[in-house]
Amino acid sequence: MNRSLKNVLIGSFGGGSATASGGNTSGAGSYKEISLSDTAMIMSYANKVMIVPGYGLAVAQAQHTCHELEKILTEKGVEVKYAIHPVAGRMPGHMNVLLAEADVSYDKLLEMEQANDEFATTDVVLILGANDVVNPAAKTDLTSPIYGMPILDVELSKNVVVNKRSMKPGYAGIENELFFKPKTSMLFGDAKKVLQDLCAEIKNI
Ligand code: TAP
Repeated sequence: MNRSLKNVLIGSFGGGSATASGGNTSGAGSYKEISLSDTAMIMSYANKVMIVPGYGLAVAQAQHTCHELEKILTEKGVEVKYAIHPVAGRMPGHMNVLLAEADVSYDKLLEMEQANDEFATTDVVLILGANDVVNPAAKTDLTSPIYGMPILDVELSKNVVVNKRSMKPGYAGIENELFFKPKTSMLFGDAKKVLQDLCAEIKNI
């Protein structure tokens, strides 16, 4: 880690040297990436982290590693909760079932309305394989197929880290402008591998 903690925490971590391959572009504009080590750093020194699980977490079968990350952060004094969107995944209660399978404590799961009340006091949102359920087009784009669907207001938090494998769309097949917002950084890779690497990094901080 060759950057000061202050630099990581105060700066927009996608800017300047923090962006390994920043300024990447897709059809909708430019997005920035964050490294594993910077993600580990901001999560370790956060007061509150909110994890947003989605279909990709189930595909990766990364629920156990996700719980491991939660435990490691909690041991470091970080408050960790999960924001559960009612249609995240592909079946009713998908995320609840997935996380229960990994023994995640039920009292750490926030329903959408509760989570939306807590994002403003959240330092880092870690989105794990979710896409449509955090897409602001549901509120802003009348022509969007998801217009009117309530979403998780992750943008109210201080930092948003999105883990997925690429810039490809989710179930609704539409672009997500969240990925191009100044507060958002992309952490590409399979959710299980990324979470395993994050756990290892955070243990070393
Ligand atoms: P989605 O919008 O489908 O997005 C899932 C994302 O996961 C994808 O963009 C994909 O991006 C990523 N992903 C896939 N495999 C991954 C992996 N191994 N590691 C990391 N990321 C991975 O999911 P969501 O936000 O949970 O929303 C659910 C959608 O399904 C909604 O549109 C909902 O209406 C619909 N739906 C829900 C239900 C119920 S009842 N829950 C039923 C039918 C339909 P990459 O390809 O770039 O990795």
